[in-house]
Amino acid sequence: MIEINGITKIYKLSAKKKKELKTNKDVKIAVNDLSLIAEPGQITGLLGPNGAGKTTTLRCVSTLLTPNKGYVKVCGHDTVKEAEKVRDSICFLTNEIKLDEHFTVDYLFTFFGRIKNLDDATIEKRKKELFDAFEMNNFKDKKIEELSTGMKQKASIVVNLVNDPEVVIFDEPTSGLDIVTAKAVLDYLKKLRSEGKTVIVSTHIMSEAEKLCDKVAMIIGGRKVIEGTIPEILAETKTDDLEDAFFKLYMENTGADKEESHE
Ligand SMILES: Nc1ncnc2c1ncn2[C@@H]1O[C@H](COP(=O)(O)OP(=O)(O)O)[C@@H](O)[C@H]1O
Ligand SMILES: [Mg+2]
Repeated sequence: MIEINGITKIYKLSAKKKKELKTNKDVKIAVNDLSLIAEPGQITGLLGPNGAGKTTTLRCVSTLLTPNKGYVKVCGHDTVKEAEKVRDSICFLTNEIKLDEHFTVDYLFTFFGRIKNLDDATIEKRKKELFDAFEMNNFKDKKIEELSTGMKQKASIVVNLVNDPEVVIFDEPTSGLDIVTAKAVLDYLKKLRSEGKTVIVSTHIMSEAEKLCDKVAMIIGGRKVIEGTIPEILAETKTDDLEDAFFKLYMENTGADKEESHE
């Protein structure tokens, strides 16, 4: 279970970043008093446009960033005070993690398993399970540099899942993936859900969230604008699909501070 409790994250802006964000302000409130609970056995979605604060939120959950206000608990442990305990129970995935090109998938999997203090029998068991799920068996003895982009992405996901974490945090799970790889990833997330794991994903693709998530929270300009199951959100916004719901909420929530809402 993940409990995000009223977190605010404020970044100091460099001159370069000010220019990029077209602002004169010295700070950017990336996440503003956000609360959300992700339950075991469910896939919880964090939805929002670019710059909404999704990655920042997930980085706070995964102990990479410390919120300025509020706190996050993962499996009952505080992400700041008990960061090590949290790190043991999570897997933080993004499609930007790159593996060393000179090693084989098989070698890297074992290596990452040993870093996580797993014994060799456990590593082999996990290897079989994950290589089967992601159809990596024919590629396991190839060096990363020999793999296609899709295969490289799968390899990095598989290697990071070695420790069978209770909580899986995935920032934009299908971003940049080819359609076949994307399906393998989404199917695996559903498998994790069926095993009772807590899964939280961010996405800006509403149709994906609609298919995948049990519950979603939409964030715009760092603030949560709505939260619920898909039927609850459609009923509340009187719309037929999540994309329409999103645009309705977007129009309602960006009028007052347009500068904040665009990247
Ligand atoms: N390290 C940083 N320094 C300054 N501003 C940042 C930093 N990281 C993100 N931001 C800004 O914070 C806002 C939220 O970013 P982010 O969490 O990456 O959003 P998302 O993942 O939803 O696209 C954006 O306006 C972004 O430009
Ligand atoms: Mg992001």
